[in-house]
Amino acid sequence: MTAQTQLKKADTLDDAKREELIGLLTKAYNAEIETVANYIANSIHLDGMLAMEVKESLEEDVTEELGHAQQLARRIKVLGGKVPGSQALEMTQSTLQPPDSTVDVKAVILGVIDAEDGAIDLYQQIIEASGDVDPVTEDLAVTLKADEEEHRREFLGFLREYEALKQMFKGD
Ligand SMILES: [Fe+2]
Ligand SMILES: [Fe+2]
Repeated sequence: MTAQTQLKKADTLDDAKREELIGLLTKAYNAEIETVANYIANSIHLDGMLAMEVKESLEEDVTEELGHAQQLARRIKVLGGKVPGSQALEMTQSTLQPPDSTVDVKAVILGVIDAEDGAIDLYQQIIEASGDVDPVTEDLAVTLKADEEEHRREFLGFLREYEALKQMFKGD
């Protein structure tokens, strides 16, 4: 038997399901890598007093999103998939590109909320696809979804604060 030299595939997963999960995990991995690139760029691109908190938060999140990507890559590998290299990645986060104006903090806040919304939806999709057949992938998606919901809530807070501060300055 050559079976010993092969990685054992999860017994509960048929090939179609395994491929589906690898596809979803790869999509999430791609999004996390793109998020890392855009969080680095925006955390350095923005200027001014109103940007300080947002920049600091993005800088911290870079490490967290990178950790997400690494966890996803490990799961892709365990399921028998191939982690994509840079040339196989697709970049789509149009609302998270560094804005023309370096003081346009609001554009970045909205872009982050957009990216987090997308991540939350994708992790929900993975939870639903893995629920009955792959509790390990489900568990990972639950954890990552919770992290993204925290990020989203934080940036909704920044949005409220930003609007309030703008109003205050207008009153001067
Ligand atoms: Fe993430
Ligand atoms: Fe996030």
